[in-house]
Amino acid sequence: METENTERKKVIFSAIQPSGTITLGNYLGALKNWITLQDEYDCIFALADLHTITVRQTPADFRRHTLEAYALLLACGIDPEKSPFFIQSHVNTHAQLAWILNCYTQFGELQRMTQFKDKSAKHADNVNAGLFTYPSLMAADILLYQADLVPVGADQKQHLELTRNIAERFNSAYSPTFTVPDAYIPKQGARVMSLQDPSKKMSKSDENTNAYVAVLDKPEDILRKFKRAVTDSDSHVCRAEGKDGINNLIGIYSCITGKTDEQIEAEFEGKGYGDFKTAVGEAVIEHLRPIQERYADYIKNKDFLEKCYTEGAQKALAISTRTLNKVMKKIGFIPKAF
Ligand code: TRP
Repeated sequence: METENTERKKVIFSAIQPSGTITLGNYLGALKNWITLQDEYDCIFALADLHTITVRQTPADFRRHTLEAYALLLACGIDPEKSPFFIQSHVNTHAQLAWILNCYTQFGELQRMTQFKDKSAKHADNVNAGLFTYPSLMAADILLYQADLVPVGADQKQHLELTRNIAERFNSAYSPTFTVPDAYIPKQGARVMSLQDPSKKMSKSDENTNAYVAVLDKPEDILRKFKRAVTDSDSHVCRAEGKDGINNLIGIYSCITGKTDEQIEAEFEGKGYGDFKTAVGEAVIEHLRPIQERYADYIKNKDFLEKCYTEGAQKALAISTRTLNKVMKKIGFIPKAF
């Protein structure tokens, strides 16, 4: 007889910004893990479009990027039946709680955020208040769902730390209200580096398009980018200090095929970098092929997408409203009578 598991599954919340191209780095570093987490946890996923407008967007492109990102994440394997998957701006509680949390976040704390410092240097002509309070919106995203765990990359760790501080501060000022979230460190995942300068993270904003692979790149482009990947002057396929390019390719190949470093080294024993680069390119192409096919299908089907993101937003609204109501009541707002 099956034993029923009555224990509550842990809640995972994560989000990604719909700000253009989704790269192999986003996929292997984050999205691929999201997919596997769906069985073990109660996952909730969002497209953080409110965060995206901290940098100026062209309306038509922004709309298109958001819809494309939604379709692509479904194609990657987010199952909206299992995991509510919504567009942040559709769920009003996020902006509402973000305002409230702004009042429980110190200026000095926000000022210390390295992402704020980096982004305000990069967009010096538009250092807006939203860029500054970005972390309180992110805290709202997470705390509204009482998330236990948040998968985040290294660049978002500081924001998660701040989220924990805000949650603890609120809980001790009133009474336990928010679950204090932990970072989720994936068992497997790759920090994918640029194919042209493997000391830098792969980034879609790289002006050299050979530096990154987009999940929707054509097979011939993917193969070409891998063949041109910058490596060292050695020819032995093995991980080693200083062989950043090869280490990166081994990481990608391992993540895609599930092979260990030892297996990969054995497979390419006696072969050169050329063979290895081609093999990595081909493995990536084959892995992405079904995702690209599903994407092509979904993006044509606007009704289906609308149905998915509407249902996702309705589920998210129901969960997050419970938290927002509790918070407002504790602070002393008069409860709405309608
Ligand atoms: N700030 C994150 C990024 O740019 C995206 C994000 C928004 C997020 N809200 C979140 C990530 C909540 C995790 C949890 O990558």
